[in-house]
Amino acid sequence: MKIKVAYIIGARPNFMKIYPLMLEMDKYPQKFKQVLIHTSQHYNNNMSRIFFEELRLPRPNFYLGVGSGTHAEQTARIMIRLEKVFLKVRPDLVVVVGDVNSTLAGALVAAKMNIRIAHVESGLRSFDRAMPEEINRILTDSLADYLFVTEKSGLVNLKNEGVASKNIYLVGDIMIDTLLLNLNKIKASKIRDKISIEEKKYCVFTLHRPSNVDSLSSLIQVYHILKAIALKIGIVYPIHPRTKKMLKAFGLWGKFKAIRGLILICPLGYISFMKLVYDCRFVLTDSGGIQEETTFLKIPCLTMRENTERPITLESGTNYLVGRNKSVILNLLGNILRGRLKRSRIPKLWDGKSAARIVTVLRGIK
Ligand code: UD1
Repeated sequence: MKIKVAYIIGARPNFMKIYPLMLEMDKYPQKFKQVLIHTSQHYNNNMSRIFFEELRLPRPNFYLGVGSGTHAEQTARIMIRLEKVFLKVRPDLVVVVGDVNSTLAGALVAAKMNIRIAHVESGLRSFDRAMPEEINRILTDSLADYLFVTEKSGLVNLKNEGVASKNIYLVGDIMIDTLLLNLNKIKASKIRDKISIEEKKYCVFTLHRPSNVDSLSSLIQVYHILKAIALKIGIVYPIHPRTKKMLKAFGLWGKFKAIRGLILICPLGYISFMKLVYDCRFVLTDSGGIQEETTFLKIPCLTMRENTERPITLESGTNYLVGRNKSVILNLLGNILRGRLKRSRIPKLWDGKSAARIVTVLRGIK
């Protein structure tokens, strides 16, 4: 009997996590029928459509059109619309990825309808419940039937939360599958020519976490950090719409635009963005996924957070937690520019075969 699999995606980091999984399941048409559901949590062309074009993802079978809102509004709208779709489609398995509001909403609706749930990128914990994503992670994992884990800390976290070992699978990092599948296209991207920057003569900056961008005082700290870095090396900053909105609301947009050496650009698609990372000197970010991609590419990553749910990137990767501490950042910048980099190792199973491991497990579903 065929298994009907519904994938729930909604926000930018979901798209590259679902891509290798759909490709892998395509190899077993007698076993799986795939249905793609886009909640539209992210809806701008450069936050959503460009990823479908670049990765050649299939057109979603359903768009829920939920858009932005408060956490309760967004999560509730997804749930109400998703329930209707599930009633129509009747999936046997729902696959959710990562830790965004669409992930939790998808898992909650599936659980209440007695549909089995697979969570890809399970077990990560920052132990910081002020992060909306941490709530999404804990709740999604407590509902999931198949928990696919990227790094060994996830195994420990899930066991500590009482998840049965038989439901937990260490499969590695599916984002690395996507990176390897697209590496040739990434290397060939012309994005640096478009913005006229030379290889290794710049760093990449991204910032969007509420803890960094939702208050005036933290944005002013960020401003001073960027000004100091720009005196030493160019900065390329594809700006997230949330951050742009906050800079404008706090009257800081003009000040940021005036920093000499800071190149402010629109959010980029996957291929162009990864090319910028591939060729840069280091990355300064508060993203989750970029901590992993830089570890794989052995590019130094300064993470502007106080904690990370991805501790392996600190222990064996290229990542440093720097918060908004200007002197720590400038110190590390000095080391990086002098070529003093920390030794790093690519974590176990980050080898481009995670999707195959996941599908091997899911092929066993009756
Ligand atoms: C969401 C995820 C976060 C992830 C990030 C990646 C949650 C709780 N957060 O944060 O984990 O790291 O995506 O980007 O799910 N906006 C637009 N156009 C869009 C999307 C958003 O203009 O296409 C603006 C809106 O003003 C919106 C704001 O960005 O209110 C925030 O969007 P939202 O989806 O709530 O969260 P993100 O900050 O993007």
